Amino acid sequence: MGQKNAKNLIFDGLKRLEYRGYDSWGIAILNNGEISQYKDIGEIQKDKGFDTLPKGMIGIGHTRWATHGGVTKVNAHPHISTEKDFTLIQNGIVENFDELKKSLIKKNISFLSQTDTEVIVKMIEIERNKGKTLKDSLIDVFKKLKGRNTIAVLDNENSRIYAIRNGSPLVVGVGKRETFLASDTLSFSPYTDQVILLEDYDMVEIDKKYLKVFNILNLHKKGLDIKKLKVQYQNIDKGKYDHFMMKEIVDQKETILLASNYNNVELQPLLNEISKSRKVYIIGAGTAGFASGQIAYFLRNISHVDALDIRSYEYKSYLPVIEKDDLLIALSQSGETADTIEAIEEFKKKGCKVCSLVNMLGTTISRISDFEYYTNSGPEICVASTKVFTAQCSWGYLLAMSLMKKNTLARRKIAELSLNTKKLFTKKSIENIQMLVEKIYKNDHMFILGKGENFNIALEGALKIKEISYKHVEGFSAGELKHGVIALVEKGTPVFGILSDNAESKDIVSAIEQVKARGALTIGIGSERFKKNSIFDWYIVTPQFDTVGSITNVIPFQLISYFLSVKLGNNVDKPRNLAKSVTVK
Ligand code: BG6
Repeated sequence: MGQKNAKNLIFDGLKRLEYRGYDSWGIAILNNGEISQYKDIGEIQKDKGFDTLPKGMIGIGHTRWATHGGVTKVNAHPHISTEKDFTLIQNGIVENFDELKKSLIKKNISFLSQTDTEVIVKMIEIERNKGKTLKDSLIDVFKKLKGRNTIAVLDNENSRIYAIRNGSPLVVGVGKRETFLASDTLSFSPYTDQVILLEDYDMVEIDKKYLKVFNILNLHKKGLDIKKLKVQYQNIDKGKYDHFMMKEIVDQKETILLASNYNNVELQPLLNEISKSRKVYIIGAGTAGFASGQIAYFLRNISHVDALDIRSYEYKSYLPVIEKDDLLIALSQSGETADTIEAIEEFKKKGCKVCSLVNMLGTTISRISDFEYYTNSGPEICVASTKVFTAQCSWGYLLAMSLMKKNTLARRKIAELSLNTKKLFTKKSIENIQMLVEKIYKNDHMFILGKGENFNIALEGALKIKEISYKHVEGFSAGELKHGVIALVEKGTPVFGILSDNAESKDIVSAIEQVKARGALTIGIGSERFKKNSIFDWYIVTPQFDTVGSITNVIPFQLISYFLSVKLGNNVDKPRNLAKSVTVK
């Protein structure tokens, strides 16, 4: 709500949010006492439909990642009321959607879409028909919704915007004579760095004359706690690259070092907490899950800390053994991943202290943790995480070394490593990878062998190729090969082995010999020392700096997945069915 042409502002904001979900979208504008909206499937673009939207200074918009109902125009948001007196957008899942919908159908309520969102709209209409104001109807209905949900509503009658948050992210951007509401700060970052971070069950009421925040459970009005964002991301662009992914892969020349920009004093509170904790659990989802594994490896093997990594979505099976003297370290690029937030909330209920390592600013995960650290990698737009993975690992290596009072040595080693990372982006190195891709792009099955410090690198490498090339790729410990996976190896099957300058690499060499004997196309990634070994049909050298070197062993897999995706004509930055921040369970 402001003085500018809302549809263009909302369009730009949605484009900056598109990485969070991109199967369909919609914008609603209030103009001359009427709500006009346009919805479409596919990429957010200024097409004829968009042009039909009138000029107006108030509006709401949404980009969708389907949870209930297929990718259709009808299921896209906003969902407008029968009387067209309000329209609604939602981020989350109404977990009791089925029973709510059944009770409405019993009242002969009919639906246009298959979404849980429209159920909310219908419930509000029923409250309205009882004579309640839209605001009171919203509050009463919202309290009946189960699960993590955030909704925003455009009110035609009063030219207002209401929004209520529970779990799913929502922030207010306070500008000069304009106010923004959004799922993350990135979307309105070019216009203001003044934000209000909202708690669960906070409601926002935006009127031309005022901005109100209050809690819907006790109706207590809250002060407008406006915070200044540390960094304001004006431009999010690919620079000279065709895709954000390639730009973000090359950014690692700087971001690996940036993540280690913490001295002993800044780390001390966490170092003390680790020293007095019984056990350290490290959690994350997707790529952040594999980074958790790498950090647990560093803590066990460098600083002999009893550290264990857990995938956020599997924390429940550990709850029975969690004790209050345990420490939780949570990793997240977006800071809003629902599974990770839920795990943190449960560990806190057990009395555990929580440390978070997040990339985005002003997020839920940072706000609910006792110790906050940041990867400082800048916005990561490509859905497949690259620079934030190596940044998370770099921070973990620094933490483990700092526990051994080797903070300065660690920062020197990381600086050397990031300097040498450049070698992976030379014309010769890139061509070597592109020629390999020409050789393997027709294969539908590939395997990656890793061991010890490279085990989680193998898992992450496989995820990268899966995420954007849609190929079936499995990463696993070399030791597992003979216990089953080797049955899948046939003539020409690409099998990668990751080799550091350490004793475990001999196990990788013998594993590669076994698959070679069954006709596999064998690819080595790692130390120059093994480059001339004839068991490899292909070899990619990576910088070696003792254990810290394992971090950059993932970069060739990032590049292979990138060139595979380009070769196969996939949408590199927005792969099918994925989203950058999964705010639903
Ligand atoms: C996925 C992203 O949706 O969520 C991955 O595509 C990411 O890149 C994973 O690793 C976890 O997200 P986050 O934001 O908690 O690190």
